[in-house]
Amino acid sequence: MYYLKNFESYTNSYKNSVENPEAFWNTIAKDNFVWKRPWSRVLDWDFSIPKISWFEGAQLNITENCIDRHLEHNAEKTAILFEPNNPNDTSEAITYNELHKRVNQFANVLKSKGIQKGDRVCVYLPMIPELAISVLACARIGAIHSVVFAGFSANALSSRINDCDCKLLITSDGGYRGAKTIDLKSIVDTALLDCEGIESVLVAKRIHKDIPMVSGRDFWLQPLLETASESCEATVMDAEDPLFILYTSGSTGQPKGMVHTTAGYMVYSAYTFKNIFQYEPDDVYWCTADIGWITGHSYIVYGPLLNGATTLMFEGVPSYPDYGRFWSIVEKHKVSQFYTAPTAIRALAKQGLDLVSPYDLSSLKILGTVGEPINEEAWHWYNDHIGKRKCPIVDTWWQTETGGIMISPIPNSFEGKPTFATLPFVGIQAALMDEKGDEIEGNSVEGRLCIKFPWPSMARTIWGNHQRYKETYFSAYEQNYFTGDGALRDENGHYRITGRVDDVIIVSGHNLGTAPIEDAINEHPNVAESAIVGYPHDIKGSALYGYVTLKKSDEMNDALKIEINQLISKQIGPIAKLDKIQFTSGLPKTRSGKIMRRILRKIASKDTSNLGDISTLLNPEVVETIMKNSL
Ligand code: WT7
Repeated sequence: MYYLKNFESYTNSYKNSVENPEAFWNTIAKDNFVWKRPWSRVLDWDFSIPKISWFEGAQLNITENCIDRHLEHNAEKTAILFEPNNPNDTSEAITYNELHKRVNQFANVLKSKGIQKGDRVCVYLPMIPELAISVLACARIGAIHSVVFAGFSANALSSRINDCDCKLLITSDGGYRGAKTIDLKSIVDTALLDCEGIESVLVAKRIHKDIPMVSGRDFWLQPLLETASESCEATVMDAEDPLFILYTSGSTGQPKGMVHTTAGYMVYSAYTFKNIFQYEPDDVYWCTADIGWITGHSYIVYGPLLNGATTLMFEGVPSYPDYGRFWSIVEKHKVSQFYTAPTAIRALAKQGLDLVSPYDLSSLKILGTVGEPINEEAWHWYNDHIGKRKCPIVDTWWQTETGGIMISPIPNSFEGKPTFATLPFVGIQAALMDEKGDEIEGNSVEGRLCIKFPWPSMARTIWGNHQRYKETYFSAYEQNYFTGDGALRDENGHYRITGRVDDVIIVSGHNLGTAPIEDAINEHPNVAESAIVGYPHDIKGSALYGYVTLKKSDEMNDALKIEINQLISKQIGPIAKLDKIQFTSGLPKTRSGKIMRRILRKIASKDTSNLGDISTLLNPEVVETIMKNSL
């Protein structure tokens, strides 16, 4: 899979990809995948409709590209390396050969339950091999998978099932998460009280618990798999047939079911994986995300398997049995590429080095981060203590909607620098826009981040609501995909994502991004994490309210507040000083680790009558404490 190896090859490829995108992607698609029929047209698009179509006329099946084609030379190579929650349980290495059989058996079970091409199948599973296998089994027969993160509540699950009319649900008797056992099936039973469309439920055994099974609806998976045939012909799919739906929350309204299609998603997820993680045949690659998020879809399952890689799947949490678990897994499996979220890095850094130093991390070659801007302090900790200053860090900016990484350093081509996602990947035409909707040219500028030209893995629509797709992404800036993020471009053309533009706060007419202020605060040695929101202010319009968590709670005092403001003054300027600072034991977070600033904004604004749905938070209990101590 074509390698970007140095800055020159990146700049040449980038130039080609912009000057002649069709020829560029044509070559990559032709040289690196197996097709049942070639395309008649590489790209057809119009952002004003919007319509985006890649590799029109082509036919393929993505699982033949993920599995079958590796059987000739790599049948015995490990495809999925499963590391269980409990470190004393044995890990499982699933070879490409075994994966082929297990996906086929699973696909045959789906067929026996009446699932056909185009049907929607909901997957609600913990991080066990069946999760990856069920996703691939759907793709094998052209069913559209809709994975719902197993941390979501019954309400969230039923609304997602109903939104896209799923016919079948795949779940398990339960799951392990650290010291906890999660009773998944009872959540499913509650959810299904509201889901008339679900005809069958397949239940994998994980915790071996005696659970109620609804006769005629619920089936244990294992016995069905055992009797299913190990061969299953891959269904022929058109390039633009939907591959999956994945829900993501917007700033308003119900979650949006982003629809990703087959060929373009395949080409882009595979190509970015290869080049950004510089995967080589003997590497063991590990992404710590859950397959319930886009990161897991693209960079645990599809991207790695399309490259014939060994991809590690971890069932547990970073804190179990202690905060050294990630590093013990890196040592145990000699992980080469490690990809995680800044929030995890900050949590681990807070624990101190005693939990890092016992482990041999010398197998690591490349480190990655994703999901939110990474602050300088966390970046340096990651670089110094995990990468030992030898591993390039790829700060990868992208979204559920983009399907693959959009802006990122490319190891061996150009380096990262703290807080910068750096340069657009090949084929990605990034632009910054001003408030009036005009493009801001040149360097050392800041604006709203848009993408001017289609890329192969962009979501094609919102399930059942094309109008909302158009309004959300293609209406703010004519003929542009609007990301919802703000960014700055430095003097070298490198991008720094400054955060969602809905988080921008105007203080006395000055535009302030929350991320740089939080960065400044987090540099204080006593600070663990912080979040800034705006609240109404008589004179300034908006003023800044900071929520700050400390490494040690006995340090909450006024002197520290002064020091924090001094740091901000120093890093950004007095304009960015906080009017109010509240020390708190925690910040409300989504299950993917994002701070819910919406809630903090309401509390800071003393507008707590309607906080919205907080039940899907990781730590809903913290909201009440914050409210009680609000300034
Ligand atoms: C939003 C998308 C893509 C997988 C996980 C999140 C923020 C993502 C970065 C980064 C700064 C980032 C953006 C983006 N984001 N990666 N490297 N630096 N911000 O997917 O839940 O769809 O969220 O996450 O604000 O718009 P998502």
